[in-house]
Amino acid sequence: MREVEANFQTNEKDAAVRRRPVGFFDSGVGGRCILEAFRRLCPDEDVRYIADSENCPYGNRSPDEIIALSDACVRRLLAEDCKLIVVACNTATAAAIDYLRGKYPDVPFVGLEPAVKPAALSSKSAVVAILATQGTFNGRLYRETSARFAKDTVILAVVADEFVTMVERGETSGPDAEEAVRRRIEPLIAAGADHIVLGCTHFPHLKGIIAKVAAGRAVIVDPSEAVARRVKAVLEERGISA
Ligand code: DGL
Repeated sequence: MREVEANFQTNEKDAAVRRRPVGFFDSGVGGRCILEAFRRLCPDEDVRYIADSENCPYGNRSPDEIIALSDACVRRLLAEDCKLIVVACNTATAAAIDYLRGKYPDVPFVGLEPAVKPAALSSKSAVVAILATQGTFNGRLYRETSARFAKDTVILAVVADEFVTMVERGETSGPDAEEAVRRRIEPLIAAGADHIVLGCTHFPHLKGIIAKVAAGRAVIVDPSEAVARRVKAVLEERGISA
């Protein structure tokens, strides 16, 4: 009888953990593309999202500033009882994920880094463009991954901060947005890039016009679905999916 009771209590406790939300944060609205991909994949999960738009952009801040801002977002998500936290920002991942994992060892974190590896492995021209922030390019993850998987690939590393501003303002379509995108993308294609990696979570919001400008001449690599699948896998591995 006691054993049955104990099992019942354990199951209840597990069920309570599984019902807790998954937390997401980004310097702004960018990471919503990850959130939306995750909601499509796991509609039963409860979610929380913090857009730190007040402090956006993170891209040119010092690592210490990004760590402090990321930690503040994490504290808010933990106060909402999140069971896993997605650092839905390449810049925050680059600067802060090691710190966050060290400070909160019991919290599972999923972060992002530019999809250099799949782009480099499938590029035929051996020229790949990565669009990201300066903070992401400065990070250890980006440097290690490109040194490891893109040794024989020419990487065109482009800081496209104006895209972050456009997306925060909601300018994701129309002739001005298209012109701004064209100015960035045409030179990359002219330089031989056959893959364009969206290495900042603000950029998938411009994917429609990036694809229009690229017009089939380059593959647009958007990591949102892959990150959503990774979050699902981590929840399952830990037995905490809803
Ligand atoms: N969304 C962020 C990223 O993925 C960057 C935007 C910013 O500079 O704040 O890197």
